[in-house]
Amino acid sequence: MTSWTVAASENDVKEGKMKPVEVGGSRILLIRIDGEIFAIENRCPHMNCPLQGGILLDHSIKCSCHSWTFDLRTGAYVASDKIKVNVYETQVMDGSISVLV
Ligand code: FES
Repeated sequence: MTSWTVAASENDVKEGKMKPVEVGGSRILLIRIDGEIFAIENRCPHMNCPLQGGILLDHSIKCSCHSWTFDLRTGAYVASDKIKVNVYETQVMDGSISVLV
């Protein structure tokens, strides 16, 4: 069963930046692009590197270890959508970012 859980203050995630958080036992990376907050699993499925050191390119993140790149909106690996990281719905309310986990 999923529920909305506060993950961070809205001010903690600036435009074009990311913030690693742990929510309900899940390691999640919050990212703000064009004002929208994305939440993805903070673990690369290739060899488990955290994605928090990755490079943001438009709506994707490139893993810092071996450059696998994932779409922030779907979690799909750009070279094969059979490989994905988990993505989570987010909402901003009363200055807080919540994630559906
Ligand atoms: S661990 Fe991410 S690309 Fe290898």
